[in-house]
Amino acid sequence: MMFQGFLLAVLPVATSAQTVLGVYIFSRHGDRTAKAPGSTHLTNLGYQEIFNSGTYFRNRYIASDASLKIANISNDLVKLSQLSVSAPLDNVLMPSATGFLQGLYPPVGDTVSSVELHNGTNVTAPLGGYQIIPIAQAASGTNSEDQAWLQGASNCQNAILSSNDYFVSDEYMTLLSSTQAFYLGLSPMVNKTFSNDQLSFKNAYTIFDLLNVANIDNVTFPSQDQLTSDTLFQLRTLADNHEFNLAYNSSEPVRAIAGATLAAQIVQGLNTTIVSNGSTKLTIQFGAYGSFQSFFGLANLTQANEDFYGIPDYASTMVFELYTDVSVSSFPSTEDLRVRFLFHNGTTNSTSEPTAYPLFGSNSQNLSWADFTSGMGKFSIGNQNDWCSACGNTTGVCSSSILSSSSNGGNSSSTLSTNSNGSGNGLSPAANGVIGAMVTLAVILGLEMLALLLGGYRIVSKKRLASNTASKS
Ligand SMILES: *[C@@H]1O[C@H](CO)[C@@H](O)[C@H](O)[C@H]1NC(C)=O
Ligand SMILES: *[C@@H]1O[C@H](CO)[C@@H](O)[C@H](O)[C@H]1NC(C)=O
Ligand SMILES: *[C@@H]1O[C@H](CO)[C@@H](O)[C@H](O)[C@H]1NC(C)=O
Ligand SMILES: *[C@@H]1O[C@H](CO)[C@@H](O)[C@H](O)[C@H]1NC(C)=O
Ligand SMILES: *[C@@H]1O[C@H](CO)[C@@H](O)[C@H](O)[C@H]1NC(C)=O
Ligand SMILES: *[C@@H]1O[C@H](CO)[C@@H](O)[C@H](O)[C@H]1NC(C)=O
Ligand SMILES: *[C@@H]1O[C@H](CO)[C@@H](O)[C@H](O)[C@H]1NC(C)=O
Ligand SMILES: *[C@@H]1O[C@H](CO)[C@@H](O)[C@H](O)[C@H]1NC(C)=O
Ligand SMILES: *[C@@H]1O[C@H](CO)[C@@H](O)[C@H](O)[C@H]1NC(C)=O
Ligand SMILES: *[C@@H]1O[C@H](CO)[C@@H](O)[C@H](O)[C@H]1NC(C)=O
Ligand SMILES: *[C@@H]1O[C@H](CO)[C@@H](O)[C@H](O)[C@H]1NC(C)=O
Ligand SMILES: *[C@@H]1O[C@H](CO)[C@@H](O)[C@H](O)[C@H]1NC(C)=O
Repeated sequence: MMFQGFLLAVLPVATSAQTVLGVYIFSRHGDRTAKAPGSTHLTNLGYQEIFNSGTYFRNRYIASDASLKIANISNDLVKLSQLSVSAPLDNVLMPSATGFLQGLYPPVGDTVSSVELHNGTNVTAPLGGYQIIPIAQAASGTNSEDQAWLQGASNCQNAILSSNDYFVSDEYMTLLSSTQAFYLGLSPMVNKTFSNDQLSFKNAYTIFDLLNVANIDNVTFPSQDQLTSDTLFQLRTLADNHEFNLAYNSSEPVRAIAGATLAAQIVQGLNTTIVSNGSTKLTIQFGAYGSFQSFFGLANLTQANEDFYGIPDYASTMVFELYTDVSVSSFPSTEDLRVRFLFHNGTTNSTSEPTAYPLFGSNSQNLSWADFTSGMGKFSIGNQNDWCSACGNTTGVCSSSILSSSSNGGNSSSTLSTNSNGSGNGLSPAANGVIGAMVTLAVILGLEMLALLLGGYRIVSKKRLASNTASKS
């Protein structure tokens, strides 16, 4: 017992006594083109990143010699009933899901994929035994990688109002004026995309995004002389702040609606593993960085590490492992199940693996199923009634007639589906009105700020850089 405890302390992840029974993975997409001026797509680099990430998780959970093999998961030939994969319909996220799955279950070769027909002819799958895995279309986040304003994709009235309130907060106003000169100074690098009146903290993310993408992908971009690493770091830090505040505010939980619905889907994914006695083993979803940030805020991960205030890099993953410490011959009882949260910032590989962090401001990197579901239950929103009341929406899918017809005898109504087909859930796309409102607000703020402009540019604290660098090995 003592000896085992010692081993666990040294090797918290890979101990043979543990059996992993199910896993939920939430992934950001790989490298893509810039959001401005629009029509984003996954780049070759991004495809590589997300493929490598899929390969990493194959070696962790699926391959015959996987370090934390999920009990009884099919090694090489995919068994579709064991997997559930979804992504929003988007030119970046949907292809990322495909690329990830190519790494997770790569082509098996002509021998393994060969199937004999009735007449004796053998047929192999194309592309050397390539395996096709269906990807359900997630309802929320459609076209999110083309939208600068992520909250618009939430379609949730109160969340949109709450995020808009950020643009009149003191915190925002202060940064808007203190960074005005800094942003205007970027004009020579970005004047093809942003006019001078768009160059402000208001567009912190899209400006950072444009230059970050240029710095990674543009061969002819004169990064050496103009875009110094200091400037890029400054842009990133300001964008981190801007986006975190749009995604989460501790006194207005509805702002984090993306994280709240994600939390419900995470619990639902692992719950399916339990109620099916382990038949469904792996749930994988793809989404925008805003969903990560909302969840980080709600789950108090910022308390575990202040890096969680930052935007996760491309191909970042959040992982929830459902496992047991007792030795099992069949699916264990719920009392013996534990959940571990892990995160990796950017593409995972065998030398840069996900790290476990405590959820909910606790000290523990693993929780009993009961503690996990009770922690998530404090902020998750998983059914239509709760969503409509949190969002303050009363029309469309939230009109009383539709809500009452979908609930059975006082039970708390339908579950928000991960799969769309248009109607039936509150998370469908379309936010043109919202974007219009934002543009109007931007113009008003822009005029006000021009009047207030004092040109004082204060560099944002670099403390985070120091602590980030120190914590990376
Ligand atoms: C066997 O059936 C397949 C599919 O119908 C056909 O393509 C193939 O030519 C057949 N082989 C022979 C030897 O008849
Ligand atoms: C088809 O595959 C089976 C099993 O691998 C093998 O026994 C058989 O000889 C093959 N048939 C042909 C026509 O190659
Ligand atoms: C968070 O919400 C509170 C209460 O509405 C508000 O006073 C504060 O300005 C908000 N902070 C941000 C950064 O939006
Ligand atoms: C953009 O900036 C460059 C470098 O200062 C300058 O040569 C160019 O004329 C500017 N273009 C516009 C449209 O202002
Ligand atoms: C790359 O940077 C150059 C110089 O700023 C610019 O003219 C060009 O449009 C950029 N290419 C892309 C694909 O963004
Ligand atoms: C799984 O979810 C169902 C429906 O929400 C719930 O009734 C059940 O108690 C959950 N099971 C576990 C083990 O949490
Ligand atoms: C899971 O196992 C329990 C206990 O063995 C059994 O009662 C239940 O019917 C099983 N559920 C499924 C979906 O197989
Ligand atoms: C991810 O890394 C970036 C730097 O590459 C950092 O700014 C950010 O805070 C990190 N995010 C998380 C969630 O760890
Ligand atoms: C794995 O599969 C075997 C054979 O079907 C079964 O007896 C066993 O209970 C399964 N293990 C778990 C943990 O589900
Ligand atoms: C793994 O990722 C780290 C960090 O991105 C990188 O430095 C390293 O070269 C990668 N290793 C492999 C084997 O790709
Ligand atoms: C997060 O921390 C705050 C304050 O530290 C606390 O009030 C809140 O309950 C915590 N949230 C969760 C989900 O544990
Ligand atoms: C909720 O209300 C907002 C604002 O009125 C609207 O834009 C959005 O489409 C509504 N969402 C749903 C699901 O009806």
